[in-house]
Amino acid sequence: MDFDEKMIDQIRQAGRIAALTGAGISKESGIPTFREAQTGLWAQYEPTELATPQAFRRNPELVWEWYQWRRGLVREAQPNPGHKALVQMAAVVPQFSLITQNVDGFHQMAGSRDVIELHGSIMRTKCFTEGVVVEDWQNDGAVPPKCPRCGGLLRPDVVWFGENLPVEAIGRAVEAAESVEVFFSIGTSAVVEPAASLPRVAKQAGGLVIEINPDATPLTPLADYHLKGPSGVVLPDLIQQVWDLG
Ligand code: OAD
Repeated sequence: MDFDEKMIDQIRQAGRIAALTGAGISKESGIPTFREAQTGLWAQYEPTELATPQAFRRNPELVWEWYQWRRGLVREAQPNPGHKALVQMAAVVPQFSLITQNVDGFHQMAGSRDVIELHGSIMRTKCFTEGVVVEDWQNDGAVPPKCPRCGGLLRPDVVWFGENLPVEAIGRAVEAAESVEVFFSIGTSAVVEPAASLPRVAKQAGGLVIEINPDATPLTPLADYHLKGPSGVVLPDLIQQVWDLG
């Protein structure tokens, strides 16, 4: 890919960089993005209608089974070159923050540390009643399984529509956005708040905003650069040209 020389220099000279990722970065691992049509059994449901506390109250079995299916997809898949490029970037940039909206855990599997998870993780489970993370439970066939402490229903430790983000995670993300010289928005439709505001915060604070996405998003008009393409191709290419890594 032919990158702008000035952009390459600005990235190379930056002491502080943050990257915000969304479902698009896991696309090349074979995981469908959040807003694209689902396949197979789940084609008749909208993810936005399953990922809510109301949906879980109405039909906890259906919602649990949907997450079981998504966990299965993740277990059979691998992090891709886009996830790996961010691990390499973190190793060369003096201060690097990785903020993700994804709940699939691929960044950690690829080797990223200290990932700021805005929407939790499907690999963790918590009690719907008490909100505490639960590591072990009795596998007696109940769907969803029951909390060993209070008998409440277990649910994935993710943030659903209408729920608040973890305070510490969003605090760290805003702090990073306010202080970076370069902010990457990668594979996200940039429509779900408050994550969607992070690149705007970075821009207002004087940071260079670079979007990596095959398509345009509401962020595109505001971004300094839109690197059009799949992140699994663009990111390895970019780090090769900036730091000779890859
Ligand atoms: P979306 O599914 O809304 O958007 C995925 C974005 O990835 C789109 O803009 C695609 O154009 C882009 N994309 C597709 N293939 C790509 C590729 N190979 N490389 C790079 N980008 C690609 O997913 P998110 O923006 O992550 O929250 O959605 C944000 C949040 O909405 C999710 O975390 C979820 C949902 O509400 C919760 O569950 C709380």
